Amino acid sequence: MTAEIIDGKAFAASIRGRVAEEVARLKAAGVTPGLAVVLVGEDPASAVYVRNKGKQTVEAGMHSEEHRMDADTSQDALMAKVAALNADPAIHGILVQLPLPGHLDSEAVLNAIDPAKDVDGFHISNVGLLGTGQKAMVPCTPLGCLMMLRDHLGSLSGLDAVVIGRSNIVGKPMAQLLLGESCTVTIAHSRTKEIEAVCRRADIVVAAVGRPRMVTGDWIKPGATVIDVGINRIDAPERGAGKTRLVGDCDFDSCAAVAGAITPVPGGVGPMTIACLLANTVTAACRANGLAEPEGLTA
Ligand code: GUN
Repeated sequence: MTAEIIDGKAFAASIRGRVAEEVARLKAAGVTPGLAVVLVGEDPASAVYVRNKGKQTVEAGMHSEEHRMDADTSQDALMAKVAALNADPAIHGILVQLPLPGHLDSEAVLNAIDPAKDVDGFHISNVGLLGTGQKAMVPCTPLGCLMMLRDHLGSLSGLDAVVIGRSNIVGKPMAQLLLGESCTVTIAHSRTKEIEAVCRRADIVVAAVGRPRMVTGDWIKPGATVIDVGINRIDAPERGAGKTRLVGDCDFDSCAAVAGAITPVPGGVGPMTIACLLANTVTAACRANGLAEPEGLTA
């Protein structure tokens, strides 16, 4: 069997199109959704992400703010920035880019964001709402994975799902979302016994461990749907001295030979994350103004 390739780039473009339509509807009602991104320090990868977020926010017709702070910014200064954005009526979504420099308390910062503006879904209130099946802001990457799974499979009810990885950003919220879809969910991680056999039982595998090509085709049940969240940069001497390339947590070729469908890296989950950030900002703007929420852009 050769898997169908799930085109995250095209799907993300369609989500951004939906977002732009909703932004037009909101603007007609007098509301321009606004997203503020806070970047502390000079991490080049984070700077690239933040630039892309700003660009796509503007392309969708939204108000975009980028707040850059020095790497030696104090906790108090960052908390004051968050408080100012919480109080700003032009801002419906706040994202503090992670990782923060080591001297800063990330948890305290994330929990200082107004939960209604927490478009990352990392505030403890949103984590609790998601865990209890209530209306929450949902973390962008797992939301993107869920959208792709629904689009590809329709109903997920009763399916066996294995999430590999137990991070707060992806693994745990992904498992909650799949549970919400009535999947039978297993979270596998570095201590899981016979992880290959656990995976082989799954109709859905979501790999979010950050280990290049860890999941190989012999871990996959024939016909299963594989969502690869990993973005790992590895040396690629075949491309020339010093060259690198991106690979996922799944060994694409061997998994694609067995799976029914698989997301590629790059071009799979990655583009969906920013699309879902825009979707969450629109959702937050609707909720803040008592307007109807768009269909299909939330969990
Ligand atoms: N850094 C890498 N991914 C993310 C994300 O989804 N949200 C935030 N805030 N920072 C990140």
